[in-house]
Amino acid sequence: MRKPFVAGNWKMHGSRESISNLLNGLSAQVDAVKGVDIAVCPPALYIDFVQSQLQGSVISVGAQNMAEEPVQGAFTGEVSVEMLKDMNCSYVILGHSERRSLYGETDAQVATKVQVALDAGVTPILCVGETLAERESGVMESVIATQLDAVLEKSGIAAFERIVIAYEPVWAIGTGVTATPEQAQEVHAFIRGKLAQADAAVAEKVIIQYGGSVKPDNAVELFGQPDIDGGLIGGASLNADDFMAICKAAS
Ligand code: G3H
Repeated sequence: MRKPFVAGNWKMHGSRESISNLLNGLSAQVDAVKGVDIAVCPPALYIDFVQSQLQGSVISVGAQNMAEEPVQGAFTGEVSVEMLKDMNCSYVILGHSERRSLYGETDAQVATKVQVALDAGVTPILCVGETLAERESGVMESVIATQLDAVLEKSGIAAFERIVIAYEPVWAIGTGVTATPEQAQEVHAFIRGKLAQADAAVAEKVIIQYGGSVKPDNAVELFGQPDIDGGLIGGASLNADDFMAICKAAS
């Protein structure tokens, strides 16, 4: 029913040379992966370069962030959703914990960006997740609920037919400490259950990726959980063999 979706978030990594090598590696292996939607999200500066290298490929391209402002203007350093569309981006990662913690993005700003992306027809990958302190102090569910509520209140439940959610426990990102499949499943079920309170049919269809130290050796078990529909992959997406192994694990 739900088609798994695996996206690589390259974060601030890459050069033309390393990206060419990575894409050659992905292109050589991607035909062997069936039944999975795949995307890569390079730094904005390289999106056009990646698109030109991936012409005719089944691999989609996404961005890692975008401006809140829906139209172009005097916003130095920003990239608009229309620019992403112009570069044929299918997806945009929004509300990644690094944007929230390092650049102070609020739930309200993330919700605005989600609506701007939806209005432009670019699919948001909405990241939610708790810190270790929040998990340990028992407020994990309320933190995630608040992150989701900001989007629900602004865009409504029907918008989730066009939103991908990525659950990323902050304590598992780039640390090598992944959530156990049971821990991840528990939160994915919570997210789906919360959306189901608003509309069960929409909740059943929404893709919920897991992100946080996904590797080839833990991907099968994570993706085998009933409410985990693929992953948002950081470090391992920079290695073609590892990323393709993770994509295969989702099939
Ligand atoms: O967006 C991806 C996540 O932040 C996960 O990163 O796989 O390096 O832990 P990671």
